[in-house]
Amino acid sequence: MKKESQPKSFADKMVDILNYGSLNLAMGLGYRAGLFDVMDKKNRPCTANDICEKSGLDLRYVNEWLGAMVCGGIVEMVDGADGHQLFNLPKAHGDVLTRRAGSNNLGVYTQEIPLLTACAMDRVFQGFLDGGGISYKHYPEFHDFMGQLGDAKHREVLVDVFLPTVNGGQLVFDLQQGIDVCDMGCAQGLVTLLMAKAFPASRFTGLDISAEALETARAAALENGLDNARFEQRDAAELAVTSDLSRSFDYITAFDAIHDQTRPLEALKGINEILKDDGVFSMIDIAAETGIAGNKNHSMGTFLYTVSLMHCMPVGLANGGAGLGMMWGRQLAEKMLKQAGFSHVTVNHMPSDSFNLHFFCEK
Ligand SMILES: C[S@@+](CC[C@H](N)C(=O)[O-])C[C@H]1O[C@@H](n2cnc3c(N)ncnc32)[C@H](O)[C@@H]1O
Repeated sequence: MKKESQPKSFADKMVDILNYGSLNLAMGLGYRAGLFDVMDKKNRPCTANDICEKSGLDLRYVNEWLGAMVCGGIVEMVDGADGHQLFNLPKAHGDVLTRRAGSNNLGVYTQEIPLLTACAMDRVFQGFLDGGGISYKHYPEFHDFMGQLGDAKHREVLVDVFLPTVNGGQLVFDLQQGIDVCDMGCAQGLVTLLMAKAFPASRFTGLDISAEALETARAAALENGLDNARFEQRDAAELAVTSDLSRSFDYITAFDAIHDQTRPLEALKGINEILKDDGVFSMIDIAAETGIAGNKNHSMGTFLYTVSLMHCMPVGLANGGAGLGMMWGRQLAEKMLKQAGFSHVTVNHMPSDSFNLHFFCEK
């Protein structure tokens, strides 16, 4: 008689949690060491020695790592003809976790929680006790990592895929004619520089609070001969007060640069202040609902809330800040955009970026 499969108990789920949590860590290490790429290129079952020869890594460590990968169902193990065990990364797994996977590469994200843990585990625990925030400066490795991810995405998508969708194609026409554009929270300036190169008739200004990031941006503009791009150190939350840039820009972008600010409402008011009356603003921010209930079935809800807990919320809480967190959600975002003075806000999904929404705003 066929045995009925029993529903999983919570204890079974706990076992899964311990296994998958550990697997994420081991995969993050393997990803960083290039092991998945080496196995993917082999494209056939091979010995641990083969993998070490190709990767230049230590056999004892690689063997232990292979144990985690085989038990976790990431790598297959088969007996070789000479009694050696052989290890194989199925092609379908390589398709979503190696560097060749491009925009389908989920493997790269296995590094995110381990990196955040290394940067901030103790400080986040302290936050549970005293409610304090954490300064950006405590996350150097994490920001380098996120910077690299962001760079790859902007290079692939910004000019050819995203900008043509803005304002029904009108924006690209205007950029070709020559307009004034600002990228808020520009970091090392990639978005500003990519746009400046693609649209030489327009003028571009990157604003950020980080002097260090702006130095890199200025050097890159110089190196690439982009004299239509400039960079200024500004606190977005002060723009409405200083008002020297009032009504300066036809188009403003903010990529992933609002939810972890300490004064996000003031920053949005500042953006409204520096936008011309007939200008448009693109805020690209995380695709989520406001409130836990709306995110219960989000396919990456647990992951995103945890990233927020470990980084976005505490950096937003620094200096008595708002601490919105990454999962502030579209309803709150729309409400704050309206409070900041935008009368029309359209929210669009981004086919090229399922993590984010495009809030297209008019004054
Ligand atoms: C997550 S990064 C996003 C960087 C970039 N827009 C991208 O897409 O790669 C957020 C940026 O916002 C900047 N930022 C944070 N608070 C700011 C403020 N009050 N005013 C201006 N920039 C700020 C940070 O320095 C950082 O460069």
